[in-house]
Amino acid sequence: MRNPIISFFQNRTYKTDDISAKHHIAELIAKLARAHNAKIIVETGTFRGLTTLELAKENPQATIYTFEIDPKILRQTRILFGISGHRNIVLVEGDVMKTLPQTIAGKSVDFAFLDDAKKNYRMNFENLLPHLSDSALVCAHDTNFRPNDIDDAIQFGKYLANHPAFSAISVDWSDRGLTIAQKRGSARIEKKPTGGI
Ligand SMILES: C[S@@+](CC[C@H](N)C(=O)[O-])C[C@H]1O[C@@H](n2cnc3c(N)ncnc32)[C@H](O)[C@@H]1O
Repeated sequence: MRNPIISFFQNRTYKTDDISAKHHIAELIAKLARAHNAKIIVETGTFRGLTTLELAKENPQATIYTFEIDPKILRQTRILFGISGHRNIVLVEGDVMKTLPQTIAGKSVDFAFLDDAKKNYRMNFENLLPHLSDSALVCAHDTNFRPNDIDDAIQFGKYLANHPAFSAISVDWSDRGLTIAQKRGSARIEKKPTGGI
């Protein structure tokens, strides 16, 4: 059952448009991170903190670094995370394009959820790349979503699906789409397919 205080704050975030990941997506990524035994998790784009709280609850073994730029959202989210009781969330304030490289310097990232401005996905991914652990998972939200005719997330989904260092699948295709990519070990990148089906 949801904490009523948390629900209060989540329902009063000043933006009225629903840009949070749906609950089943939040649950899916949180369970994926748990199954992966992720120790360092990155989320770009915090908003109401729904996915962050799900990640934190499901992954007590991990620290979740979540990045948000909007001061109004930050004011509420800071309070929300404070009362949530989860001590494994680090809310990083400011432009993720600048704060991500500083925050993850010297760290090994096991799981990333890209969900900030869609035009940033590629740069965030490139900033993450040198810090991803072996077999790290990178999930990109909205990879089947074209707001106002802009298809940055769709293009990024295609880029990730064709990246030689990753194996990717796409799910939730009837909705906004989620691409889940796993970094291959170096030996597996070299491996050539051996036959047909
Ligand atoms: C789609 S919402 C995130 C939803 C959240 N992950 C969830 O599922 O509940 C995108 C958020 O990214 C934030 N954002 C956009 N550009 C950003 C940037 N350059 N740096 C940090 N946050 C950014 C927006 O303010 C917004 O709150």
